[in-house]
Amino acid sequence: MSQNIKPVTTIKSAFPIFEANPRLSYLDNAATTQRPRAVIEAVTRFDSFENANIHRGLYDLSSTATKRYEQIRTKVAHFLGTENSNTVAFTKGTTESINIVAQSYLSKKIMPGDNVITTIMEHHANFIPWQVLTQTHHAELRIVPIDPHGNLDMNKLRALIDSKTKLVAINHISNTLGTVNPIEDIIAMAHKKNIPVLIDAAQSISHCALSLDQMEYDFLAFSGHKMFAPFGVGILQVAEKHLGEVLPYNVGGGMIREVTNERTTFRDFPFNLEAGTANISGVIGLGAAIDYIGSLDKTDVSNHIRDLTDYCVATLNTVPEINVVGSPSGRSGIVSFTVTDIHPHDVASFLNQDQIAVRAGTHCTQPLLASLGLGATIRASFSIYNTRDDIDQLKASLIALIKFWS
Ligand SMILES: Cc1ncc(COP(=O)(O)O)c(C=O)c1O
Repeated sequence: MSQNIKPVTTIKSAFPIFEANPRLSYLDNAATTQRPRAVIEAVTRFDSFENANIHRGLYDLSSTATKRYEQIRTKVAHFLGTENSNTVAFTKGTTESINIVAQSYLSKKIMPGDNVITTIMEHHANFIPWQVLTQTHHAELRIVPIDPHGNLDMNKLRALIDSKTKLVAINHISNTLGTVNPIEDIIAMAHKKNIPVLIDAAQSISHCALSLDQMEYDFLAFSGHKMFAPFGVGILQVAEKHLGEVLPYNVGGGMIREVTNERTTFRDFPFNLEAGTANISGVIGLGAAIDYIGSLDKTDVSNHIRDLTDYCVATLNTVPEINVVGSPSGRSGIVSFTVTDIHPHDVASFLNQDQIAVRAGTHCTQPLLASLGLGATIRASFSIYNTRDDIDQLKASLIALIKFWS
């Protein structure tokens, strides 16, 4: 058990899923995190006793719901280190946030011959939108490679940025390798040439590893369900200087100033992006998740997850049949590995019999796996409620499988 955080038993008891499944080693946190009781109760309370649509009603329930929804926008802004809640748009999640930047911001600016820079270690959500956009606009997608350890090749990135680069889009933490990218350096490098930077923070937002208030990124995308909130809600945060450049994405109710038979005028960001009825319960849950994260010590959370990551790598490296993928200089929360001669799907199915939940496959990073010459990996990923015991059980189960298979 880690010594760094308030006792993990206390943390674990805040998550009802572990009451129902006391033997569960949940090691698929990169796919989605579990929900603490405080989040579940906040959503249930809203749905049971406070439900109303927002921004429209003149009765108490509706105006209270509107107030809470907008208070949570402010809460998200504070969580991200800014006072300006008008920089924060609610979306469905990271994928939608990134697509909005591609379609509603960059597609209006990109010209034939321009380029967008992304990396080989992106989730498809931060790869395909740029591939499609550049192909549609006869522009170029430039893909930064990694070194043999799984670190981003910073020299190559430097060499790829030029006067035709319209955006650098990069994850903070790779969802397959766990590599922590030096985003401060990347932002500085791009900004020297006035190039905006999009950060995909899907994997880092719950690790408390970002000092967001000290970073001058242009676009930030993340999903609620990877930070203890419900599915179907996420954030796109846009730097003040770009607010007027992100145009409507969907059009319809709730985002207009005026509509006539001939034309429509739209509200400003972020309301111009929030057409139709929002995922109000999801936003209520996101607010509760931010409060929950706020009740934890940020440094302890970061240290705990790093401790589990390092322990997992060291533990798996003691088994000769297990091959940990990559050895980046910074790795947080995610460890991919293969087991000699056993397909990752078979490994995951075997672990499932021991109530160990891991992911096996390409993790929505097919270009990365192709570049590594791998068809699939097994991925263990950690959150605050995991302990070293989960990793010991993972190792014991893997050894049993290797014996069984040989
Ligand atoms: C790094 C990264 N980016 C983007 C996504 C997509 O997130 P969502 O499916 O919540 O939109 C994920 C999901 O695993 C991810 O790990």
